Amino acid sequence: MMKLAITGKGGVGKTTVAGTMARILAARGNRVYAVDADPDANLATAVGLDPGAARSVRPIADMAHLVEERTGAAPGSQAPVFRMNPRVDDIPAELSVEAHGVHLLRLGTVKKGGGGCICPESALLRSLLSHLMLYEGDAVIVDMEAGIEHLGRATARGVDAMLVVVEPGRRSVRTAEAISKLAGDIGISKLRLVVNKVTGADDDFCSRLAGSFDVLGCLPFSEDVRQADLQEQAPYDTAPLFREQMEGILDRLIDSLR
Ligand SMILES: Nc1ncnc2c1ncn2[C@@H]1O[C@H](COP(=O)(O)OP(=O)(O)OP(=O)(O)O)[C@@H](O)[C@H]1O
Ligand SMILES: [Mg+2]
Repeated sequence: MMKLAITGKGGVGKTTVAGTMARILAARGNRVYAVDADPDANLATAVGLDPGAARSVRPIADMAHLVEERTGAAPGSQAPVFRMNPRVDDIPAELSVEAHGVHLLRLGTVKKGGGGCICPESALLRSLLSHLMLYEGDAVIVDMEAGIEHLGRATARGVDAMLVVVEPGRRSVRTAEAISKLAGDIGISKLRLVVNKVTGADDDFCSRLAGSFDVLGCLPFSEDVRQADLQEQAPYDTAPLFREQMEGILDRLIDSLR
C-alpha cells in the first residue's frame, strides 16, 4: 500500500510525475486511484484519458445533489448544521473514471466562505480523501494544488509520504522548504524530493539539494514530455526515456518507505 501526496511550486511537474507514477503502478498490477485535487485539473490527460473524456470528468464538489444527499446541506450554503463525516465509501467505485487501469477522481473547487469556514462540499471532500487514504486501493496518488496554503491536517490523514517536486532554481526550493516545515506540523514525517527538468548545467544543484533533502532522483528536461503536454497525451505513452527514469524513482521511493 502506498498513499502519496504530490506537492510543489506551480508548474514544476507535479501532474506529469503523478500521472506517470499512477500508470506505472497500474501496469505493475496494482489497484490505483489517481486523485486530482487541483481546481485547475489536468491529471486525467497526464494519465492518458483522451482529451474529450478528460474534460467530461465532473468534479465531485460540483455534484450538488450528491453533496446535499450526503451532508444534508447544499454546496455553498452556510447551513448551520450538516454532517461532518458524510458517507463516502461508495464514491470511489461509483464516480471514478478508469483509464489504462488507473481510477481517476476529480475533487473540484470548494468555494470558500468568509473566515475559512467549513462548508458542506469541503466536508465531503475531506471525508472522501481520508477514506481513500485509509481504505481504498493498493496505491493512492493525490496531485495537489501548487503551493502550501491548502496543506492542512485533512490532507495528511493516512498519507504515507509527501513527494515534493522541484526544478532547478531557488523559488521551487523555497516552496519545498516551506512544505517541509509544514509537513512536520501536520504529521507527515516522510518527505521525498524529485528534481525535474534538469539540464546538463544543473548537476551541482542536484547534489547540493541532497545535502538537505531526501532526494529520490533527478529527471532530465525532456522534449518528449513537453510534446506530450502539447498533444494532450500521457508521458507514459509517448516519452519512453522519462517513463524509464520514473520507474527508477518509484523503485527508490518504495524502497525508502519500507
Ligand atoms: N521533465 C520534463 N521535461 C520537459 N517538460 C516538462 C517536464 N516535466 C514537466 N514538463 C512540462 O512542464 C509543464 C508543467 O508540468 P505540470 O503540469 O506537470 O506541472 P504542475 O506542477 O502540475 O503545474 P501546476 O502547478 O500548474 O499544476 C508542462 O508543460 C509539462 O509538460
Ligand atoms: Mg498540475
